[in-house]
Amino acid sequence: MNIPQFRFLLLAVATLVILSCQQEKEPRVLNLPKTDLTQADFIPKPVQVTATKTAFPLDKYTAVYTLKDSTEFGEVGKLLAEKIKEISRLDIPVNEDTPDQESVIYIKRSDSLPMKNKEGYQLKIGKDSIILSAASAAGAFRGVQTLRQLIPEKANDTITEYPIWPIPTGTISDAPLFAYRGAMLDVARHFFTVDEVKKYIDLLTYYKYNTLHLHLTDDQGWRIEIKSWPKLTEVAGVTEVGDAPGGFYTQEDYKEIVAYAAKNYMTIVPEVDMPGHTNAASVAYPFLNGNGKTPQLYKGTKVGFSTFDTRKDSVYKFIDDVVREISAITPGPYFHMGGDESHATKKDDYIYFVNKVEKIVQKYDKTMVGWDEVATADVDSTSIAQFWASAENAERAVAKNMKIIMSPAKKAYLDMKYDLKSEYGLNWAGYVPVDTAYIWKPEAYEGIPLKNILGIEAPLWSETVSDISEVEYLAFPRAIGYAELNWSKPENRDWKNYKVRLGNQAPFLERMKVNYYPSPLIEWKTEKDKKIKKD
Ligand code: ACM
Repeated sequence: MNIPQFRFLLLAVATLVILSCQQEKEPRVLNLPKTDLTQADFIPKPVQVTATKTAFPLDKYTAVYTLKDSTEFGEVGKLLAEKIKEISRLDIPVNEDTPDQESVIYIKRSDSLPMKNKEGYQLKIGKDSIILSAASAAGAFRGVQTLRQLIPEKANDTITEYPIWPIPTGTISDAPLFAYRGAMLDVARHFFTVDEVKKYIDLLTYYKYNTLHLHLTDDQGWRIEIKSWPKLTEVAGVTEVGDAPGGFYTQEDYKEIVAYAAKNYMTIVPEVDMPGHTNAASVAYPFLNGNGKTPQLYKGTKVGFSTFDTRKDSVYKFIDDVVREISAITPGPYFHMGGDESHATKKDDYIYFVNKVEKIVQKYDKTMVGWDEVATADVDSTSIAQFWASAENAERAVAKNMKIIMSPAKKAYLDMKYDLKSEYGLNWAGYVPVDTAYIWKPEAYEGIPLKNILGIEAPLWSETVSDISEVEYLAFPRAIGYAELNWSKPENRDWKNYKVRLGNQAPFLERMKVNYYPSPLIEWKTEKDKKIKKD
């Protein structure tokens, strides 16, 4: 290269550098649309929202920074960036040195109110920064879900030549009403794969659920590998309702579900239903059986015909092994022993059995949960009753000072049909349309004192559904309503207001490919016309 050529090159490089510096320095004057934070379609509705009626630009200049000394907070930041990418395709840097970034999201720890609650958080959204404060990573994670709900599904591309997702500014202070916000999936009547369970977790997470109860065993199949009793899955994992081949989780599969749930700040509650609902176990190991008949694999939907032999020591040795193996791979505090509909077990035998199983569960450092019938036994106040059918049993549980999980079938069973048009579901507890599922007060139901209530769990029994799409049909949109009953204060809940916010969930549900039931009670704000006419 000769000297003039070299000079020209130098000049060109210098000009480029200056131009690019100028571009970096140029202040962004954005005329973002005025948006009102108090009008956002939050579900569940936060405790307190105030609006400043400007907007934060989520765009290619956004960065996320988190508390330096906490890997958990760092992970929450990465999860936020992943979720932003799913909706926007933006690659938001997390904890990287990026001086160009002008709209910054900080996730930090704070112990001031309302962050005292371990899932509480505060969001301060300004024109160029968002500060998410929480006492724990769990609180920050819940705050991230709120922030996700503020990101428009479609970018605004009329302001600049690049897309911007305007987020309304203001302050949100929030904490949950109930500590236990659960759903239950019956993987026994029909089996669901690890990926299907993960998708259910993803959807529940968006609405701030924190517990997933897996009904792992029933008459029709045993779904969890127990290494010391291999025939449970070899022999009794291969059937389900109907003619499909069933299936089961290896312990590695189960650990994968538990880890995925933990990443989403969700606890897995394993259930081994007994002494009834045990036909499958007795087919694998006939000595367990207590109903005097030879057990055969069962693909039907009747209940109440099976029981363990409650007076045999070997049965308790078996149960000890099962509880030990499952507890060892379950980090959460609970073990659910079922206990429902044991119509083939004598009353005295039932009480004897529940008392013995409670001790086994406690031996492995777990808190026993059981369906409301367990309150008829001499259970400890530390055990938990799940109210599904009998107000009398709920009363017994209160008298024993037990905590109660609220799952009244008439209101909270996700497997009840919505109405006459429902494709799936049962109706033994009545139809549960979307308004019936929402319009009730878990904190004042059947006279159960608030101090005993842990929260609502919405069970989904799977006699009539065989894949995740059919599960979604029953769960959505009703599961969204239970999320609000569980999280939001009674004075922040209102059916008329809720149903508008629910209709506005359609773009999210469709992006997530959720096969929700387009209830005619709701005006769905969707591009595809999923509306069912009211005729
Ligand atoms: C139940 O629905 N059998 C708890």
